[in-house]
Amino acid sequence: MRIESLPQKRLIEAVSPYLKAIIPQASLEGRALCRSRRRGTLVSTIQLGLQQIIRFKRERSQESTERHYSDSYADTGVEAFDACLASTARSNPFKLGNESLLVLPPSGLYAAYLATLSDVVGQLKPSSVCEVGFGSGKNLIYLAPRFPDIPFCGYELTHEGVAVAKSLQERQSLPPNLAKLVGQNDVTAMEAVRRIDFRQGNAKCLSAPDKSFDLTFTVLALEQMWPILPQVLAEIRRVTCRYVVFLEAFREANDWLGYLNLLVRNYFRADLRMMQAAGFAPIALFRQLPLKHTHGVAMLVAEVVPAPSPNAKVH
Ligand SMILES: C[S@@+](CC[C@H](N)C(=O)[O-])C[C@H]1O[C@@H](n2cnc3c(N)ncnc32)[C@H](O)[C@@H]1O
Repeated sequence: MRIESLPQKRLIEAVSPYLKAIIPQASLEGRALCRSRRRGTLVSTIQLGLQQIIRFKRERSQESTERHYSDSYADTGVEAFDACLASTARSNPFKLGNESLLVLPPSGLYAAYLATLSDVVGQLKPSSVCEVGFGSGKNLIYLAPRFPDIPFCGYELTHEGVAVAKSLQERQSLPPNLAKLVGQNDVTAMEAVRRIDFRQGNAKCLSAPDKSFDLTFTVLALEQMWPILPQVLAEIRRVTCRYVVFLEAFREANDWLGYLNLLVRNYFRADLRMMQAAGFAPIALFRQLPLKHTHGVAMLVAEVVPAPSPNAKVH
């Protein structure tokens, strides 16, 4: 199986409605920006590392993650959630390879991620898709109208995130900023959005039977699950027949500073060897995505290696 990466021209097209500027990294401005962001990352990494040592406790337990996201989705509601996706929201420079800095609001970053994800789904042609850790559902809402014949399902830890996703389904049309990101907002698109099966559940024990989904994906969700990652990967392997797509902070997408930053924040930082050991045979790792200066992410496309049956005889 061969999967092509989204051509850079199409990636730039996808972010263009949000793009404030493109700065060459080799320019004076580009070099100064990269240097100051890197210095900022180094300082905050050291500060956080020292705090962890002094307090003797690791960040990001599942309880603190659940509290944090429950509060943030409860506070937002649909209107505030939509405001976060505005093209006028605060923009930041994101590195694209070693060539450019794209100045984008957070929704612009998602426009790049979702165009890449949708392109991969189009190439893999799965018969069903599940997202684990869907937040308020925008990734599934982006995909569903583009692939109206595919059944989409998702799991999210927090009741509050599920509530926002379900209230989006009940609307006549998507709120304006989400509609701009999704790029479709007519009656047919809303019908596809309403067919998404949003479920509340913990990724470490999913309610779906074995091999329920042809493809399972995560977008910056495993990053929150580092303390329970082995259980989560085993569950994803159990419920998936063929493919996984993980857009996460892989070790391969980070230099020493990015890795240190992930370590002190107790974020996902697995490498491809760990993914292979968890039963996912890599097909491709796409690294040409706009990246934060704190740490890099990449999109892994992998085939699921079926787990040995517990009743299998060993000769
Ligand atoms: C950074 S957000 C990303 C949300 C969404 N994937 C997106 O791209 O907008 C991470 C999400 O993972 C969810 N999450 C964390 N731990 C989880 C778990 N054990 N099971 C299911 N979801 C979980 C959080 O509640 C949160 O909504």
